[in-house]
Amino acid sequence: MTETNREWLLAKRPEGEPTAADYEWREGPVPEPGEGEFVVRILYAAMDPAIRGWMDPSGNYMPPIPLGTPVRSVVLGKVVKSNAAAHPVGQIVSGLGAWADYVVARPGMMGPVPVDWGHDLSTYLHPLGAVGATAYYGLFEIGRLKDGENLLVSGAAGGVGSLVGQMGKIKGCRVVGIAGGPEKCRWLTEELGFDAAIDYRAAGDLSAEIGRQLPDGFDVYFENVGGPTLEAAMDNMAIGARIAICGMISAYNDTRNPPPGPRNMWNILVKRAHVEGLLVADYFPRAMEAYSAINDWIKAGRLKFKVDVRDGLENAPEVFNLLFSGAHDGKLLLKIADA
Ligand SMILES: NC(=O)c1ccc[n+]([C@@H]2O[C@H](COP(=O)([O-])OP(=O)(O)OC[C@H]3O[C@@H](n4cnc5c(N)ncnc54)[C@H](OP(=O)(O)O)[C@@H]3O)[C@@H](O)[C@H]2O)c1
Repeated sequence: MTETNREWLLAKRPEGEPTAADYEWREGPVPEPGEGEFVVRILYAAMDPAIRGWMDPSGNYMPPIPLGTPVRSVVLGKVVKSNAAAHPVGQIVSGLGAWADYVVARPGMMGPVPVDWGHDLSTYLHPLGAVGATAYYGLFEIGRLKDGENLLVSGAAGGVGSLVGQMGKIKGCRVVGIAGGPEKCRWLTEELGFDAAIDYRAAGDLSAEIGRQLPDGFDVYFENVGGPTLEAAMDNMAIGARIAICGMISAYNDTRNPPPGPRNMWNILVKRAHVEGLLVADYFPRAMEAYSAINDWIKAGRLKFKVDVRDGLENAPEVFNLLFSGAHDGKLLLKIADA
């Protein structure tokens, strides 16, 4: 255990992509737990796009991070001090923490992960964590995907997107992914079994390319990206299509000039389509249902995943920005300490 607690605080609200000036580094003593609390040594922080929204004054589905406080993040860690009977020292837990060495947690803020399933700990921040639950409930409850349908997913080589596409294949669907660059596209088709992958950076006319891959249109579109990608997708809906809005990362840094909405909203009427938002937290009470299905698929070799683990709490701001260039390969995690 280090004797110091290092933390990244949010010093000001970023305009556009966050820069070093938006953060402040603070060092202090390791915190003590109050009555009913426990202290967690953070091992990994998930570099989630949602953090960008928490930096804005309006927040998103969670309130903004107050200035001068640690950057909020989903984390995985080990209990090192405890005044909470349900969370003894040594327990591995995951939940809301911060870019820090240690956080004080209360029951409900973090919970134990099923370490007896025998996976590397990083797995509990990807397919067996909120990312996996997002893919599962977004696809099956919001997208209402049925066996054999046509599925389109953007951000397809990312954490959520890569799981969504493989779940579609498990259900016998034709799956088309949209991702940035030939390497990512090759991974989707050659290793994950997607039927086709479109490199949006090279595609030129993205709408026409989606149409070539899905001539009857999509039944379900799982949206991670927004902006021009959403508009191109909406030219290619089948009658009765469902669009699950999971994220719109292309606009997260457009704080000053957010892009206008798609110009082809009329297609929703023409195709009698449904557009619905997804918030994974709504499904947390049922998350074990998703995790046990995902665990079975992993063990059966039907669901593959990649984590891109970067080292060092001191590197958190630069690592976080990789999300916006796509210069990471798999779900992006920051390793802060060894177990
Ligand atoms: N609603 C919920 O409850 C919930 C929960 C978790 C995540 N999410 C959302 O799910 C999405 C994926 O999250 P993740 O954690 O799995 O991250 P991720 O997909 O692993 O990483 C983000 C990816 O977004 C793509 N991207 C970034 N800027 C882009 C742009 N301007 N245009 C097109 N693509 C761009 C990049 O991929 P390329 O290299 O392919 O461009 C990048 O690798 C995000 O939108 C996130 O906000 C929502």
